Amino acid sequence: MKIQINPDRPLFRRSPLIYGQFLEHFHRQIYGGVYMPGHPLSDADGFRKDVLEALRRIRVPIIRWPGGCFVSAYHWKDGVGKERVPAYDKAWRVEESNRFGTDEFVMLCRKLGCEPYICTNAGSGTQEEMSDWVEYCNLPREGRYARLRRESGQEAPYSVRYWSVGNENYYDGEIGSHKSQEWGRYVREAAKMMKRVDPSIQLSAAAIADVEWNVRLLQEAGDRLDWISIHGYWDELWQDNSPAGYEACMARTDDLDRDVRKVRGLLQAFGLEKRIRIAYDEWNLRGWHHPAVDTAPLGSEEFLRARDKNDDNATYTMADAVFSACFLNMALRNADLVGMANFAPVVNTRGCIFTHDRGLVLRPTYHVFDLYVNHMGDTVVDSYATDVPDAVFTDRFGREHRVELVDTCATEEGGTVALSLVNKHPDEAVEVQLSGVPEGTRELLVLTGRDRNAYNDVDGQGAEIESSGEGIHGNTVQLPPHSVCILTARR
Ligand code: AHR
Repeated sequence: MKIQINPDRPLFRRSPLIYGQFLEHFHRQIYGGVYMPGHPLSDADGFRKDVLEALRRIRVPIIRWPGGCFVSAYHWKDGVGKERVPAYDKAWRVEESNRFGTDEFVMLCRKLGCEPYICTNAGSGTQEEMSDWVEYCNLPREGRYARLRRESGQEAPYSVRYWSVGNENYYDGEIGSHKSQEWGRYVREAAKMMKRVDPSIQLSAAAIADVEWNVRLLQEAGDRLDWISIHGYWDELWQDNSPAGYEACMARTDDLDRDVRKVRGLLQAFGLEKRIRIAYDEWNLRGWHHPAVDTAPLGSEEFLRARDKNDDNATYTMADAVFSACFLNMALRNADLVGMANFAPVVNTRGCIFTHDRGLVLRPTYHVFDLYVNHMGDTVVDSYATDVPDAVFTDRFGREHRVELVDTCATEEGGTVALSLVNKHPDEAVEVQLSGVPEGTRELLVLTGRDRNAYNDVDGQGAEIESSGEGIHGNTVQLPPHSVCILTARR
């Protein structure tokens, strides 16, 4: 196959927020994940120092919090102030200690140098409660909630810029779900109150790539929104924890642009595509495992222990890495509209980092972020591929998908061209003829493993990044099987 690059033809600058992350009050993401007061590996504020260091290395630009389904029954006022009263979390049916709340979340973001992004409760909550939260975070001193923040010792406002109205309120599984007929007006009223507190905030609203839901949302509230939020999980494991194998995962890479195309068309129809951007603010190949949330007997050990199955590091293989690289390439190719994406989640569950009592496991998806954040540039440039080999993969339902075997995207920044080259083939290398790649200093960074099912765990690393100059002979590059490669070349 051939790839032609034209570094002199910039297409658009990507937002760094497409490398964002998501953190929810679920299982061990917060307690046992980022926040472990008193643990030997934690700092004086209770945050795991090794987790902070790993997140700094991939320069996390933004974190969305506190949910996810959790937020639709969460009342933020329970999580601030000196006295934190535990509450029953109706979303995940466990007790929430409220020891980690808004102050701790903003502190986490300050430690990482990233933007906080707060998702509000449009389930059991009210528009007033949402706007009170904006008061707490962003008003310097006016009113009871700014005063409450200052009484907690936080004199200066937090200036939280990114906010969302609701989370997946379109489906019945969410507490406080809404009908499409009412959602637009609800969002409009929320936006009115939140932006009257701080007109500078950027506001998103829960949406899907669904015509009726989005048409009504945009008709009623399009003039008050800056983002539209969509989510994607492709290996749906909520009830049955049977992770799809490598080839079934590759089958699902055949149309990662689909939902972006649908939302783009709607925004264009409304003439909003220059003002509203997509926040793909939950995405992961693997859906989280949390069976029987509505039906399990209260406190049943099996119900709670089922969630531990998300912690099996052998689940997260080169399939996750290759799929995630294809998703990030999709975000880059659509960076004129996709302005934010948040990997769901960042720590534990299906995250790129797994914590245990003695340290961390950096799953293969972590290394994908390391490659993209630290080696892909900020300007997407023109490139096109020809004679791309393809293959038919069968998904977990037995459906066949014809898939191009190599996924690619080219960028430029500061005189360096960076080309992402993802080889999906489970067993065979692919040779690529390049043209347009600068002749300057070159490096080929390769993330792969001993086989397609390689994974990282407490007792061993099966998938890591290697730098191999010998992979470049003139303008021919060899892509190892099941690999994520980035070729950099100085102009
Ligand atoms: O499985 C986790 C859930 O997935 C998140 O809480 C929700 O936003 C999404 O449906």
